[in-house]
Order: sequence, then C-alpha cells, then structure tokens
Amino acid sequence: MTMSDDRMKILVLNGTYRPNGTTTELAQSFMEGAKANGAEVDMIMLRDQSIGYCTNCLKCYGFAGKGIAPCSLKDDMDELIPRIVEADGILFASPVHNGFVTGLMTVFWERLSWRVAQPGKPFLNCMSIKTRIDDKVRAVGSIASAGGMPNRLRKSCDDGTPWLKSNAPLMLHGQWIGDIYAGADLEHMPESSQDWHRIYFLRRLSAVQRQQAYALGVQMAKAIQSGGLKPVTIDKMIHPALKWILKLIFTFSPPYRVAG
Ligand SMILES: Cc1cc2nc3c(=O)[nH]c(=O)nc-3n(C[C@H](O)[C@H](O)[C@H](O)COP(=O)(O)O)c2cc1C
Repeated sequence: MTMSDDRMKILVLNGTYRPNGTTTELAQSFMEGAKANGAEVDMIMLRDQSIGYCTNCLKCYGFAGKGIAPCSLKDDMDELIPRIVEADGILFASPVHNGFVTGLMTVFWERLSWRVAQPGKPFLNCMSIKTRIDDKVRAVGSIASAGGMPNRLRKSCDDGTPWLKSNAPLMLHGQWIGDIYAGADLEHMPESSQDWHRIYFLRRLSAVQRQQAYALGVQMAKAIQSGGLKPVTIDKMIHPALKWILKLIFTFSPPYRVAG
C-alpha cells in the first residue's frame, strides 16, 4: 500500500474484446471478492484505451535513468503505467485466443515491458530482466476464459497463464498470487455436428468458476494485507540444481556467440 494513501488498490487489466463477455463476468466476481476484503478495485478495459503498436525504437529499453522509462509514442499508456505502478495488486484477465492471451493483451505488454523493466546483469550467460519499479511488492494474478477446452485439458490450450506467471512478477516486482482457468462448461454435451461447430456458443460460466474468481479476489486482498509479499527475481525462478546443470552446459556451449 502507498504511504500517501493507505487504501489497498487493485487494478484489473482486461484484455477481452467483448465488454460483457465471460472474461468481464469473471473479473467482476474477482473484484467483488477483493472489495469485500477492503480493496479499492478498478478495471481497465484495454479495448477502450488508445494503445499504439510498439515500434521497437528501443527508447525504453536503453533508458538508464530511474523510474518508468520514456516511450516515443504518446497515447494512453502514459496514464496507464503510473496506475499500474501505484497499484498494490494487478490482475490480468484475458480470453484464451489461439491458445494464448488476446492480441490486445500482448500489444499492451509490448508497450509495458521495457518501460517498467530493464535488462539486468547477465545471468547464466543469458540476458536477465530487472524491474524498474521496486518501490513496493505487488500481488499479481490472472484469469483466463476459454471457449473450447474444459479445465482438465488446460495444459494443451492455455499458454497465456504460464507466460504471464513468468513475466508479470519479474517485471512488476511482484509475487504471483494465483490464477484461474475457466474452460468450457457446456449447456449440454455436443450431440450433433452442428453442436460441435457451435461449441463456443454452448458455453456458459459455472457457479464454481465464478466462485473461484471471487476467491482469487479474496486471496489477493488478503495477501496484500498480510504485508508478507516477496518479489520474484530471475535468480529465484530457477531451481539450484537446474542452475548448476545450465552452468555446466554453458561452459562448453555458450548460448551466445559473437558473429565474426
Ligand atoms: C480468435 C479466437 C480464438 C480463440 N481461440 C481459442 C482457443 O485456442 N481455445 C479455446 O478454448 N477457446 C478459444 N476461443 C474462444 C474464447 O476463448 C472464448 O469465446 C472466451 O470465452 C471469450 O471470452 P469473452 O467472453 O470475454 O469474449 C477463441 C476465440 C476467438 C475469437
């Protein structure tokens, strides 16, 4: 929580294209859970923001100063990033599109990443990532809403959550609190080939999925209140045994070679 304003703030970044779809419904349940536990919660619909495509000019990447790095584009990201920095908790909510988060969410992340993080010291002979916003530890989590795949097949369809889980805590100086995958819960088993074609339209949210989203909101608010959040660093992300094995491999076969 911020020193100047001790209310707990949680921000939901919603990457859906449908404002009243399932992702938003789940995000709203999350918000109710967080609010019931003392958080002030706000949701930003990325679709309503003006967010241009990253031009890869590397102005942010190369910034050596303190705080948020500048960007050569001028749009709503300039207002969004300070709100993210101010937040004690951040939830990323996205439909599963082509097995990943939406294009809207990745466009947003391309514009966010090097403004809040920078290349750190080489780690295991590879480039590392260091946050620029280490003023406080943020709670982070995600909600993924999928149309076709039931929960037990999550691993074969949801690459977005593992990606968020490995990037968001590192870049936003945070701890991963939890994630929800809400897979297809169909009105009935698809019976005809028409049903199979319409599978996304047979989909609805179950009471359990809404409860899970609510519980994630409660969990995030409580984790912030506990004051015991620990930030992820690249060093902590790799198991010591794996670190040792990689060091050995890279001694004989360095991952980078200078062409010449
Ligand atoms: C372009 C596109 C790709 C999709 N890809 C997947 C997919 O890979 N796996 C899946 O389970 N559902 C997929 N879906 C279905 C969406 O995940 C599903 O409709 C989701 O509930 C949409 O969230 P919303 O209600 O917030 O719009 C896709 C939908 C679209 C439009």
